[in-house]
Amino acid sequence: MGHGNVQMFKEKANLSRQPVITRPVVLIGLMGAGKSTVGRRLAKALSVTFIDSDDEIKKAAGCSIEDIFELYGEAEFRAGEKRVMDRLMDEGPMVLATGGGAFMDPGLRQRLLHASTTVWLKADLDALVERTSRRGGRPLLSTGDPRKTLQKLITERYPVYQQATIAIDTNGATHDRAVDMIVTALMNRSDI
Ligand code: S3P
Repeated sequence: MGHGNVQMFKEKANLSRQPVITRPVVLIGLMGAGKSTVGRRLAKALSVTFIDSDDEIKKAAGCSIEDIFELYGEAEFRAGEKRVMDRLMDEGPMVLATGGGAFMDPGLRQRLLHASTTVWLKADLDALVERTSRRGGRPLLSTGDPRKTLQKLITERYPVYQQATIAIDTNGATHDRAVDMIVTALMNRSDI
């Protein structure tokens, strides 16, 4: 592309508020943060493919996340998650929603921080309790008190999630507003 064309392309992208990404945008955050819903809409806004890593793991295993936990255990699930994410990091621009635990693995975290733009969808306890109550299928919340479990996960994970490139406060924000905030944050970066 000649210089003039590049300029025109950039201006067009800016006018339509569509940042041009060259590598994956990876959404991280706790269960119920809205990674899948926001991710799907963000992918539309960026005109790229949306992939949900939990869906990829389900496809590879041929069963549900609950079944994987039950039949093979959490460690095996984490190994599968790592393989899937590692493969997707080489597949160019996309929006990828991760399971809430993926970013906690130190090796995978380093890979994501280097190969993608990581976006943390931050939400407080009340919002997560409310949003996770609407859909089951989450083995970590199927036993015990979900509120207590989510509080424990906030304490363990939020200090680590903080390493994400971009953090978006989703409390009280609609999914579309969250998408707008991410698009704006991406527009303000030169390394996407
Ligand atoms: C998990 C989150 C789930 C799923 C699995 C474990 C976690 O994904 O990967 O149940 O450790 O937080 P969502 O965050 O998409 O619910």
